[in-house]
Order: sequence, then C-alpha cells, then structure tokens
Amino acid sequence: EKAGFEHFMMKEIHEQPKAVRDTLNSVVKDGRIDFKEMQISDEDLNKYEQIYIVACGSAWHVGMAAQYVLEDLTDIPVRVELASEFRYRKMPLNQKALVIVVSQSGETADTLAALRLAKEKKLATLAIVNVVGSSIAREADHVLYTLAGPEISVATTKAYSAQLAAMYCLAVQFARVREKITEEQYSFYISELLSIPEKMEKVLEDKERIQWFAAKYANAHDVFFVGRGIDYAISLEGSLKLKEISYIHSEAYAAGELKHGTISLIEQGMLVIGVLTQDELYEKTISNMLECKSRGAYLMGLTTYGHYEVEDQVNFAVYVPKVDEHFVGSLAVIPLQLLGYYVSVAKGLDVDKPRNLAKSVTVE
Ligand code: M6R
Repeated sequence: EKAGFEHFMMKEIHEQPKAVRDTLNSVVKDGRIDFKEMQISDEDLNKYEQIYIVACGSAWHVGMAAQYVLEDLTDIPVRVELASEFRYRKMPLNQKALVIVVSQSGETADTLAALRLAKEKKLATLAIVNVVGSSIAREADHVLYTLAGPEISVATTKAYSAQLAAMYCLAVQFARVREKITEEQYSFYISELLSIPEKMEKVLEDKERIQWFAAKYANAHDVFFVGRGIDYAISLEGSLKLKEISYIHSEAYAAGELKHGTISLIEQGMLVIGVLTQDELYEKTISNMLECKSRGAYLMGLTTYGHYEVEDQVNFAVYVPKVDEHFVGSLAVIPLQLLGYYVSVAKGLDVDKPRNLAKSVTVE
C-alpha cells in the first residue's frame, strides 16, 4: 500500500505531480478554466469586492501564498485568517465578499465553524476540499475539489500542493473575467500552470542532495526559515513540515523582520534557510541572510536555476526549475518537505504519525 516507499509521506511527496495534474485537469478544459462543475459563473466572479481565506495549519499556509497571487493578478483585496481566530473575531465583514475555506479533510472543527459563521452572515462561501462528501464540502455554497486522493501521512504534502493549484486557477480565472489580464496572458498563465507537474518531477530527481544535507542537520536545535512575499508563505510551510515530524524547533520569519528582534537569537552554527524564488526580492532577502551568516549562521539558499551567484553567498544551494513566479512556490516547497522527511528518518522518528498530532483535528 506504500507502493514500495518506506513511509506514506514519501509516497505522497512523489504523488504530487499527479495530484496537481489531476486537479488542474479537472478545471482546465480546452485551454480554458471552467468552473461550471462548482456552479460558479463569471457573473459571480465579477461581483466580489473582497476575499477572505480561512483555514488552519498548512491549508492556512496555502491561503498565505494564494493571497499574493490573487492580489497581484486581480483587483480584489484578500485577507487570510486562521479559522480559530476568524470564528471569535468580531470584525466588520464586507457583504460582497467571497469566503474561501480550505481543508484537506473537510472536517477541521475550526474551519467548519468559520464556514458556518460566514453562512450565518450571508456571505458567499467556496470550499477547497479534498474529501468528497465531507462536512465542509456538504455545507459550502460552492466546492472546488482537489484531486489529491487519500492522504494518510499526518504531515500534508500532496493535498497542500493540490490546494495551491486550485487557488492558482481561481486567481487566473478571476483575473481574466475581471479583465485584469489579456487573453494572451491568460493562455500564458494556463500553460505555465500545466507545466508544474513535470517540473515537480524534476525537483524530486534531486532528492539525494537533500537527504545528504538532512543527515548533516539532524541534530540541529533551532532552524530559521526566511523569505519575502510568496517566499515567506513557503517558508511558513517549510518550517511547519520540519518541526511537525522532526521535533526540531523552527520558525519562519518575513526576512525583513529579522532585524526587529529575531536576529538576536542567531548563534554560531545555527541553520538559516532562505527561500529566494522571487527575482525582485532576491537581493533584499540574501542581504538579510548574509547578516545572519556574519553572526555565525550556516546558510541554505533555495532559489531557481540561473541564480548561480547564490553559490558564493550561501553554504548550501538548492535549485528548482523556473516557472512563472506566481506559481514557483509549488516547486520550492518540495525540497523543504523532503528536508523535514529526511531529518525525521535520520532521527528514527515516526514520520507518518508524529507524536501528539492527529490527521484531522475535529476538536478546537
Ligand atoms: O484537514 P485540514 O486541511 O483542514 O487540516 C488542517 C491542518 O490541521 C493541517 O494542514 C495540519 O497543519 C497538517 N498536519 C500540516 O502538515
């Protein structure tokens, strides 16, 4: 049942190209995105003035990444909320908002409660869910299914990637319907989206390099992940993957925040992982990383092929293929998932069932 892999997590990491391909193929028809199945019309997509994305854990991280893509491609302001906060927060809600809840299981208690709250407030709701017929899928006005298949490992990988892909489709379709992008740009984005699965395969081919690095850092006590924009969102996910299954304390910071407090924690030999996939932000983030290096930190830089200057700046470089920058997080997250996995294996831990955690959190 593990298809020759030692753990479900590794099997699911390898199923990501398929999960993304299947999810994209379910909405991309003849080169166009088609949301007919979830009964959302172009008219609907035109009327929203605000988007709230509400979720927990990794699904919230998907929201954090999607926010940058949605806001950059469309004219709609996006707010990303932790479901456990949203449900108790008395915030003024825009009545012309779309509330997007994201959940692999479709049973997460806080996310379900947030969905019910949104419905009570008469807001339009859309659920991005993996489990067909789950509570969240049944109760939301519209459902966009991720086709990741059953996910067994507590640490999510393929569901996360499929959720990101679903979000990209929403962003591109919103952008086209609202005429924020031209027909040419629309086709370009769709072909870039369709290129993701193959590029993911390529990233997976390099896994031994990450395994080697993981063995070296298996005894680390603290790891920091930094990045700006989409790279920050990917850092959040990388950090959760590591801590969740390896029990190493790790934190993700928006790189610009380091000098507002966190840099005082940097000590000799500490690992700082920088995500550097956004060309415009590369210089800014690498300079924050170099400040850590001069205080003794060991640097891992995760960037795209072509940024070979990184070799002179960091101690360990990892590359992913290029794709339109809005979508590159789908590739950058994979080496970070692999890092969490290999560290956990090197420490002899229960990778698929980390202590104190459940696959689906049905209590608050
Ligand atoms: O089933 P959901 O997507 O609603 O679950 C949300 C979180 O509990 C989940 O993503 C959790 O953070 C994972 N264990 C992360 O790997």
